Amino acid sequence: MNQVTADLPLPSPTQLMLQASGLNVYYGESHILRDVDLSVPAGQMVCLIGRNGVGKTTLLKTIMGLLKPRTGTITLAGESITSKSPDKRAKLGIGYVPQGREIIPRLTVKENLLLGLEARPSGRKGNEEVPEEIFALFPVLKSMLSRMGGDLSGGQQQQLAIARALMGKPKLLVLDEPTEGIQPSIILEIEAAVRRIVQSTGISVLLVEQHLHFVRQADRYYAMQKGGIVASGVTSELSNEVIQKFLAV
Ligand SMILES: Nc1ncnc2c1ncn2[C@@H]1O[C@H](COP(=O)(O)OP(=O)(O)OP(=O)(O)O)[C@@H](O)[C@H]1O
Ligand SMILES: [Mg+2]
Repeated sequence: MNQVTADLPLPSPTQLMLQASGLNVYYGESHILRDVDLSVPAGQMVCLIGRNGVGKTTLLKTIMGLLKPRTGTITLAGESITSKSPDKRAKLGIGYVPQGREIIPRLTVKENLLLGLEARPSGRKGNEEVPEEIFALFPVLKSMLSRMGGDLSGGQQQQLAIARALMGKPKLLVLDEPTEGIQPSIILEIEAAVRRIVQSTGISVLLVEQHLHFVRQADRYYAMQKGGIVASGVTSELSNEVIQKFLAV
């Protein structure tokens, strides 16, 4: 008997670096995330867009294990991480740069960078140096290694925060609005560095971003409204309608 195979096969879980399915997340009794499905194919950059307060940070925190979903599952490279701690998720290969960066102001740039080693499965040994690849991506940091983190400009702190996440050798880099409050020329530098990370290292990226030019660097997008995903696709087909509806441009 002939079988009708109209459905396209789903990508196998190992082709997906991250897969979140059916996430429902609450703050107390407020229902914030509603049945969210989102995936990041291995080696790709995926951008999450949406206006203020729709739940973008809540989704990233749930992926990091900082918030517990009431329902839903999350896998990293095919392995379930739904019940793992944030620390364990970091060691399994998710590097996270939270909104607002959170570098340590009273440590030097070098000390901030070396803290990133703690996310490696082998932990921190004490004699490591900052690899040259980090300075190739963020040249500004090389001349500032002994400066206090808190004395860097906003743009430099953001570059430091991304570099620190890379020190953990992640498989997936999760960035929450890395260009918020940063001047346009530095936005372009950060954008170029993130693109280079994806192209040259194979690290997958999940990015929350409002700047259209940066959003367009991503391979795919998801648009969120009131805690639900309402549109998704490849960024090359991002329509003006979607842009006007979901980006604060
Ligand atoms: N700790 C909290 N307790 C209760 N409600 C919260 C908490 N954090 C966020 N919220 C609410 O959850 C909703 C989603 O917030 P979230 O920070 O995820 O939005 P966002 O899309 O990241 O916004 P922005 O673009 O401003 O960063 C908002 O209504 C917010 O007020
Ligand atoms: Mg946010």
